[in-house]
Amino acid sequence: MAVSVERLAGLPLFSALSPDELTEVGRYVTERHCDTGTRLTVEGASGYFFFVIENGDAEVAQNGRVINTLGPGDFFGEMAIVSAERRSATVTTTSAADLLVLFGTEFRVLERELPSVAAKITKAIAERGRPAAQAS
Ligand code: CMP
Repeated sequence: MAVSVERLAGLPLFSALSPDELTEVGRYVTERHCDTGTRLTVEGASGYFFFVIENGDAEVAQNGRVINTLGPGDFFGEMAIVSAERRSATVTTTSAADLLVLFGTEFRVLERELPSVAAKITKAIAERGRPAAQAS
């Protein structure tokens, strides 16, 4: 079943979209509920999905070290899809969580057709993409 416009409109990633655009996004996303400790991306592995956290929290780790935490409204998994490289980090839920999930090809369609979404994703990649050596 499609995810409702009301739920999508509450997420910062989609906040600039019109009701028609939100309806389109709602057709593409699927819902996933996870328990605490679910690894959603694995550093160095291939990655085909993009995630938006609706409820719950997760930690981002590189080389076994937590480098950031994510919460409601945050998204992750964009880097492997955009760059066609391996996952840059391991993301693990630190609470039960509800996620919206997009397959890579659909993620690319949204990025192409919805400039406001693409801009937020590009900004996040720029902020997250710094080499670990410079960030520490
Ligand atoms: P990807 O490389 O596909 O899979 C791991 C994800 O972790 C990555 O996409 C980003 O979405 C996310 N990520 C990587 N580095 C950071 C960071 N410094 N802060 C927050 N999220 C990050």
